[in-house]
Amino acid sequence: MESLPKLRIQLAPHHPKGLILDNPVMTAAGTFGYGTEYSELVDIQRLGAIICKGTTLMPRKGNPQPRMVETTCGLLNSVGLENIGIDALIEDKAPIWAGWRVPVIVNVAGETFDDYIQVVSKLEGIPGVSGIELNISCPNISGGRMEFGVTPELAAELTSAVKAATSLPLMVKLSPNVTDIREIALAVEGAGADAISLINTVRGVAIDINERRPCLGNIIGGLSGPAIKPIALYMVHETAKNVRIPVIGCGGISCAEDALEFIMAGASAVQIGTANLTNPGVSLAVLQGIKDFMKQEGIEDLTRLVGIVH
Ligand SMILES: Cc1cc2nc3c(=O)[nH]c(=O)nc-3n(C[C@H](O)[C@H](O)[C@H](O)COP(=O)(O)O)c2cc1C
Repeated sequence: MESLPKLRIQLAPHHPKGLILDNPVMTAAGTFGYGTEYSELVDIQRLGAIICKGTTLMPRKGNPQPRMVETTCGLLNSVGLENIGIDALIEDKAPIWAGWRVPVIVNVAGETFDDYIQVVSKLEGIPGVSGIELNISCPNISGGRMEFGVTPELAAELTSAVKAATSLPLMVKLSPNVTDIREIALAVEGAGADAISLINTVRGVAIDINERRPCLGNIIGGLSGPAIKPIALYMVHETAKNVRIPVIGCGGISCAEDALEFIMAGASAVQIGTANLTNPGVSLAVLQGIKDFMKQEGIEDLTRLVGIVH
């Protein structure tokens, strides 16, 4: 009998509870809602994990419209973390997740250290929540609005404060808007991150020349989609070479070949974002494509491909 390809991965090997996924394909924060919106369209239970929308202490209305514009091979967005807030998530979404097979990881955002700590503290012991992804690409309002994730000191300080406030596996999601991704990755690893995901969106602007105004209400947005894939691959490669914790690759993935590039660059798992907006079934198609590649190449265990391109 033909053996099935081995796709299971441990995303938090140093964590007492660990975080095992049946396969390495996840949906990226902000592009798959709370999973519930997609459950009628695709068999979400077959995904490796779902990362829910960025969640803050209080509900947020987000940025002024327009919030999304298509650019060459990419999408520029300034949604501004519109979300229902942590209390509504615990009340309305987590009980649904608790009945699911697919693990849900909550993406957490904040404007102060205290915001982040309060959000993760509220998630303690909530059934249906398997882990935390810390979005450190948020402006620190008590620090001149500079993003938490752009200096190693601040990134490490935030990571260790959150780590001390949670017993859940903690994945820290890095911002690409930095000079040296390696030093940020090492800082968050040193501060206790169980895994690192990267990249978040790349800061950008688009201008409507006829209207002579920015395309986005917020002027500045975050670029995602195929346009950023080489940037993301570079940063994943650089990070994976330097840290010992698992790395999760994200940025412009829209097919199995893209995902395999990230895996060969050192990612133990991948996240798919913008591609979900045009094809809700893309993540499962990527998963199938990875299985097909393994079969075709005679690879039984996906971990054998992780980081083979140094
Ligand atoms: C509309 C939209 C909303 C997003 N919201 C979040 C968010 O709430 N938290 C977060 O960490 N990343 C957020 N992201 C970033 C994605 O999770 C992902 O890191 C990024 O888009 C790169 O992957 P992609 O090219 O596959 O989209 C968002 C991206 C988009 C396009």
